[in-house]
Amino acid sequence: DYESVGFSLLPIINKLQENAALIGSEITLPQIIVVGSQSSGKSSVLESLVGRDFLPRGSGLVTRRPLVLQLYQNEDSNEEWGEFGHTGDRKFSYFEIKEEIEKETERIAGAKKDISPEPIILKIHSPNVIPLTLVDLPGLTRVAVDDQPIDIEEKVRSMILSYINNPNSIILAITPANQDIVTSDALKLAQQVDPLGKRTVGVLTKLDLMDKGTDALDILLGNEIPLSMGFVGVVNRSQQDINYGKPISDSLKDEVKWFQNHPVYSRVFNQSGSKYLAQKCNKILTKHIRDTFPTVKNQIKILIKKYEEELEKYGDPVPNRSGEKARLLIDILTKYSNQYRSDLEGTNEDLVL
Ligand code: GDP
Ligand code: NA
Ligand code: MG
Repeated sequence: DYESVGFSLLPIINKLQENAALIGSEITLPQIIVVGSQSSGKSSVLESLVGRDFLPRGSGLVTRRPLVLQLYQNEDSNEEWGEFGHTGDRKFSYFEIKEEIEKETERIAGAKKDISPEPIILKIHSPNVIPLTLVDLPGLTRVAVDDQPIDIEEKVRSMILSYINNPNSIILAITPANQDIVTSDALKLAQQVDPLGKRTVGVLTKLDLMDKGTDALDILLGNEIPLSMGFVGVVNRSQQDINYGKPISDSLKDEVKWFQNHPVYSRVFNQSGSKYLAQKCNKILTKHIRDTFPTVKNQIKILIKKYEEELEKYGDPVPNRSGEKARLLIDILTKYSNQYRSDLEGTNEDLVL
């Protein structure tokens, strides 16, 4: 199970992720990217993975900046809270998280419906989550509405591509089961960068909304579209459930029963649902971090060298912000490399950054 993976690089990857703005595109971090068209169920899937309601909702383009969602499992307390990369140590309740995401989105991307590639970092600490990092991106749109720039579709598409082009990224391709899978925007985009389907996980939402007499079993069994990491089916809250205030915890329990009792999907019960998806993502990410480490480590080495040379030029004391950035990065990167080494040797002394 996921706890026995015991690999402690995830916190370090998260720390690097927080400093992605400093690192730029020079390091290709392993990460799970959530991709799908508007209303395909991306927010619902993310909330199911956390088990709480915390994302801004609405029709249209609500997610206008990438959201890097880092899930930390609280092992010794029942407390739950969120922290943002841009607000320091302040703890946010789930309700406050929603507002802060909206505020912070407007601050950078503007009140109009434009988008910005600058990510919002959100850390969720909870006893109920599985350690995982996911990046939520704006949904693919077809038409510009209201004050949206007319090239919004192209802007969203190229932002998504810039994230999933990274060969170290895992693509969570969200596709509603009540639409023809062949037309899935998520799978089409994923195929552009991952034609062999080696780093794409298919997620089928809205299984409960399929036409009577049809089912998606063949897709879930991998008989229709070959993805080596497979498809996972989920059933999230309907809009009516949300309107009536149905808690996600109830929805998660109902989801289990739905699969268990279903005449068709009970066959794939043990590889379906939100809980299974969370465990699967954790395993994939952890394995991926391990597999891609040699590449990332080389990129880090090159960066450390570059910044050390930069620091040498400045002399001591470091006179400006670029110098401070360089020093901070060297520090993080060195700790990162050391962590990997100590993991391999089975010791975990330098875990906390
Ligand atoms: P996003 O735009 O991709 O983030 O999509 P949302 O998660 O906001 O979902 C869009 C709409 O579809 C909402 O009204 C959800 O309640 C509904 N929805 C999402 N997943 C499911 C599902 O599995 N079953 C049902 N019945 N409705 C769903
Ligand atoms: Na939406
Ligand atoms: Mg959404």
